[in-house]
Amino acid sequence: MEFRGSHITSVTQFDREAIERVFEVADTMQPFARRERRTTALDGAILGNMFFEPSTRTRFSFGCAFNLLGGYVRETSDIKTSSISKGESLYDTARVVSGYSDIIVMRHPQSGSVDEFARASRVPVINGGDGPNEHPSQALLDLYTIKKELRANGRSVDGMHIAMVGDLKHGRTVHSLSQLLLLYRSVTFTLISPAELQMPESIVTQLRNAGHTVIETEDMEKGLADNDTVYLTRIQEERFSDKLEANIYRGRFKLNQDIYTRNCAPNTVIMHPLPRDSREEANELDNDLNQHPNLAIFRQTDNGVVVRMALFALILDVVDLVEARASGVPWYTAGRFDN
Ligand code: NCD
Repeated sequence: MEFRGSHITSVTQFDREAIERVFEVADTMQPFARRERRTTALDGAILGNMFFEPSTRTRFSFGCAFNLLGGYVRETSDIKTSSISKGESLYDTARVVSGYSDIIVMRHPQSGSVDEFARASRVPVINGGDGPNEHPSQALLDLYTIKKELRANGRSVDGMHIAMVGDLKHGRTVHSLSQLLLLYRSVTFTLISPAELQMPESIVTQLRNAGHTVIETEDMEKGLADNDTVYLTRIQEERFSDKLEANIYRGRFKLNQDIYTRNCAPNTVIMHPLPRDSREEANELDNDLNQHPNLAIFRQTDNGVVVRMALFALILDVVDLVEARASGVPWYTAGRFDN
């Protein structure tokens, strides 16, 4: 896969070699993300960070990743304050913003919108989430996290058992992660969801055709047994045409300390793309697991920065400049990455 100048709109663009390249570059970004070093590799470059749907960590971490490489960030974070609300087409917006930026990250509520935008853009575009369809950078950071967590337990992605829980119909993170795992061998997927919110059949078929085992169930406690990783998701209420319908499913599957201890194998890694819905009626991942050593959710969010730095460095072709233009960090840096 050629990174230089490429759009990243889908995980289907990747092969294992390309994934390894991203992860290898991400590892070299750790000292920069940890504020041990700083670099001016992208000094003068501009990221257009275009978010037409709510976002905290994806928008913030793409922005920070670009800043950490020495670049500048311009943002639109609300569909209401952008000209899209005046009826402007994606084509026109893409033509305009790509004249102002060196690279664009784009999130939008419609499936396929980022591809359409990328076709009109004059600079590379990264998909920050297109409706229920895909979220490729999240899948890469999830896989980077899974690899690291499993390695600590002497395991690997090939042959792993993963349970995905919740709204598998609308969750773009599980769609992208599953499709990325097509590149690996003999993975067992236990898909735990209400029957109405199952993983799209096309993805299940692809997984089976690739030689993976897929078990679909509504029985969470049974489904949790015998996994290396449990990946929880939020009910994606914004994707339901009738918001009240989302209430039917909210709170149906919850993981807490007691359920984890009774059903999960020791060392099962707990993941969630976040945000978790911590409202009482939902609470799919309880705060009582916050101190659990296998809770990887904040390692996921930290890993998001280095993976996104790697994508920028590869696409804008500055991997070799990062260290060449590095220096020390003179300001106080809290020891926040020590554990
Ligand atoms: C996810 C998303 O936006 O798809 N969040 C994220 O980017 N980490 C998951 C979600 O919103 O539930």
